Amino acid sequence: MCGIVGIVGKLNACKSALNVLKNLEYRGYDSAGLAFLQKNHLNTIKALGKLNELKSKFEILEEGIKDVSIAIGHTRWATHGKVILENTHPILSKNVAVVHNGIIENHDQIRLELKEKDVIFETTTDTEVIPHLLSISMKNTQNFFDACVSVVNKIEGAYAFAAIHSLNEEIFVARQTSPLVIGIGNEYNIVGSDAQSISQMVDEVIYLNDGDYAILNKTQIQIYDSDNKKVEREKINIQSNLNFLNKDGFKHFMEKEIHEQPNVLINTIGSLIRDENDLNIFPEKMNIQKNCGITICAAGTSYYAAMVGKYWIEKFSSIPVNVELSSEYRYRSPASEMYSCMIVISQSGESIDTLMAMREAKKLNLKTMAITNVEHSSIDREADYSIYTHVGPEVGVASTKSFTSQLIVLLSIAMKIGMYNKKITTEKCQDFIQNLKLVPNFLSKILSLNKEFINLAQAIKNSRNILYLGRGVLYPLALEGALKLKELSYIHSEGFAAGEMKHGPIALIEEGLPIIMFLTSDGMEEKSISNLQEAIARGGKVFLISDQKNINKISFIDNKVLIPSFQETWNDVFSPIFMSIPAQLIAYHVARERGTDIDQPRNLAKSVTVE
Ligand code: F6R
Repeated sequence: MCGIVGIVGKLNACKSALNVLKNLEYRGYDSAGLAFLQKNHLNTIKALGKLNELKSKFEILEEGIKDVSIAIGHTRWATHGKVILENTHPILSKNVAVVHNGIIENHDQIRLELKEKDVIFETTTDTEVIPHLLSISMKNTQNFFDACVSVVNKIEGAYAFAAIHSLNEEIFVARQTSPLVIGIGNEYNIVGSDAQSISQMVDEVIYLNDGDYAILNKTQIQIYDSDNKKVEREKINIQSNLNFLNKDGFKHFMEKEIHEQPNVLINTIGSLIRDENDLNIFPEKMNIQKNCGITICAAGTSYYAAMVGKYWIEKFSSIPVNVELSSEYRYRSPASEMYSCMIVISQSGESIDTLMAMREAKKLNLKTMAITNVEHSSIDREADYSIYTHVGPEVGVASTKSFTSQLIVLLSIAMKIGMYNKKITTEKCQDFIQNLKLVPNFLSKILSLNKEFINLAQAIKNSRNILYLGRGVLYPLALEGALKLKELSYIHSEGFAAGEMKHGPIALIEEGLPIIMFLTSDGMEEKSISNLQEAIARGGKVFLISDQKNINKISFIDNKVLIPSFQETWNDVFSPIFMSIPAQLIAYHVARERGTDIDQPRNLAKSVTVE
């Protein structure tokens, strides 16, 4: 992960770099730093903790460094080396400074080689090999660009880095798998880990391709591909959307993003509907074929969306679906003959595990389709076909509106493939579309139960362990509820398929253990209720989230939140979308009660670009 920035040609470059870093803080926030040139002298400012710590240090020095016109900066999510000042980027060697995002996989080997040349290492980062290689190479070549290219040829792994040296005002950048974008300014140029972060300062950007490297000064940008050929890359107009940095009166971004779901999901749904009885989804582009299945790869919350997608796609289209964690798929020699398509799901479009799984699928000749929130992200650009979730930037590290939007896209895909496969009639699709349009408003009704989830949160906030249960399409919701709770509140929580409890996890139940169950009227509710009885009999304290229709069957449960029931035919189908709101609100309120850092939970980052 980590966010990197570089600016050349703009006065008060450190301040501009800090502003960009603020937009990149979602990528890591354990320490941050800047390196800049003043009178051909390389200086750094570094601070542990959030970016505000660096900002405070910068403000003390600001007056004296206003004339600086070249700077690089970094916000860190530690991979190699503890969170200490020495390991904070930029990392220097003599007159060279480097910021890096990713992992240099052969750094151990390079370290050994450099130590033999009496290089002394001052950090425990993998990054430090880059500035050392650079300064040694500069001694030989006397040319910064050539030295940088020799480093690119030497290092292996997934990385993006920016380097400066004290002789000239120029920045070298290179990207291998990790994202990097160049912004074209008026008499200045800039690089950043994503386009949004630099969109305040430029109208046009260039996305570097994998393996590209470039050198920029204030007026020129020269780009080379992995074959060392000079290339032109497309310039793309971007619109600044800085509204995402506004909490709109909510206490946290996560709270805002939970409550804006009814509004933003209108965009998701609007983009999916072609007309009253058709959807803007093209099974031909996905290479859907009779007797062939689909593999879906994703990570974290997006993986749980994929699990729900499997239930839907198999139910409505009878196409077999294999759901896999991206990090596993790539390395396990998957048998691919029986699949014609891979769908990858990634909010950020940058999760390296998912990107690599998609590349693996391409090698295996599968058509690739991406469901992503970020247009022009690496996954979007490499996929054969993309569908966007259109929910706007998600700032809170925990995924909320992305999850519900991914579910809506997956359900729509299931319906469209069902039509394509002649399992779903046009009338059924028409009915689906009518009902889909009602979902945003319905979610507002569930959100209005906020107070009940605050009460529930107060009842469980001091627990050390919590279980989540669900059956069928709500089983992945149990997993998602548990993930959300553990990442925000640091309470140990696990999700299980309700029917699986008796095969082992039931041993965990002791007097007073909170058990949260999601229940819908799907014809299996009697079985789920029996599972609850078994838990209660062993001392479990059940908290049930159910739709109104089950009210008579669950009268024996004291702690429950009843959400409204939706239109009969679609109530259980849409239930994972509805139950997402309780899952999110419970985790949010427990974390708020416990006073944890909700938008930036410990050890996490929004976009996971390391394996
Ligand atoms: C959890 C969460 C993560 C992400 C995961 C994948 O709340 O946000 O588990 O879902 O890191 O990220 P994307 O979807 O960007 O690939």
